[in-house]
Amino acid sequence: EEIEKGKYPHYMLKEIFEQPESVKRAMQGRLDEEYATAHLGGLNMSTRELLEIEQVVIIGAGTSYYAGMLGAYMIENLARIPATTELSSEIRYRNPIVKRNTLYFAVSQSGETADTLYALRELKRKGGKVLGICNVVGSSIARESDGGVYIHSGPEIAVASTKAFTSQITAFYLFALLMARMRDLSFEDGLILLRGMKELPDRINAVLKQSEHIKHLAEKYSYARNFLFLGRGLNYPVALEGALKLKEVSYIHAEGYSAAEIKHGPIALINPDTPSMFIVPRDELRDKVITNMKEVKSRGGKVIALCTEGDNGVRQIADDTIEVPEVNRYLNPFLMVVPLQLFAYYMAIKLGRDVDQPRNLAKSVTVE
Ligand code: G6P
Repeated sequence: EEIEKGKYPHYMLKEIFEQPESVKRAMQGRLDEEYATAHLGGLNMSTRELLEIEQVVIIGAGTSYYAGMLGAYMIENLARIPATTELSSEIRYRNPIVKRNTLYFAVSQSGETADTLYALRELKRKGGKVLGICNVVGSSIARESDGGVYIHSGPEIAVASTKAFTSQITAFYLFALLMARMRDLSFEDGLILLRGMKELPDRINAVLKQSEHIKHLAEKYSYARNFLFLGRGLNYPVALEGALKLKEVSYIHAEGYSAAEIKHGPIALINPDTPSMFIVPRDELRDKVITNMKEVKSRGGKVIALCTEGDNGVRQIADDTIEVPEVNRYLNPFLMVVPLQLFAYYMAIKLGRDVDQPRNLAKSVTVE
């Protein structure tokens, strides 16, 4: 199958711009307005079985691991089920304790990552119930899991994952909504989230329209050899993903941290040559993150803030802002990750890197 880049110079850019469509496809036929819930037939589990789940453990590698982290936050927040994430490569050799009412998710775009596949087999060998969140239909992880959710992103060619991430988190939001509506979440609150999700493709489009501005910022900061990505709560995994994207395609050293953690170490790195990208939407943690931004500024650090449209408080402190539309607070990660993907892309272009095939990396790592 020939997959064309069309009008785009690179697959990575094409795939970033496909996200309004790919997120839509991940939700297609799965949102139910009448009952303010989601349908995920591929789980192969009855309502009774779903209600018996007492714990969720999500495994993955790379970008899929960060998507899982966000998934765990959502499941715990919304459905009130304890949920954690583990690196596939670590859980396998930790002699994991597999309990009866734990549900596992193996997240993998390719469905072939060896670390994740072997971890899945180890969990299943111990009697664990493992669902897959995969893109590639019929891949090993999809075949060997007990059920799951296909994200239907379409082929992802660029080595650095972009559209798969937003679709993986879509799958987790759907699962969290489904589980939450069986338990504590009211019809009204379910509907607010569901309607917000339906609007995501338009909101992502609005963010993509700012690509020229983001390109300009990437060029402005391309002098930096070190970068910090800082966020909290749901946007902490987004910060980790932003740092990973920059490392992968531009080879610039980047660290993702919880903004709250900088005082426990990374603040020692702050100087005019080490900029910080703060993810600071208007949510319950905004004011705390603003305090962290001030700490960086007062130590001579440059700050780019990824914030909600029109946030004057943030504008006053940051050197530069990237502003995204206001959405339901749960949905911010979808809008926040897109500028970070573009930022990494344009930085790599500016530095003359091989964006679609970064050195030393492979799309799918089938060895441990
Ligand atoms: C490789 C790729 C990453 C990807 C990771 C997990 O390292 O370069 O972009 O996130 O594998 O891949 P998977 O297919 O399991 O999601």
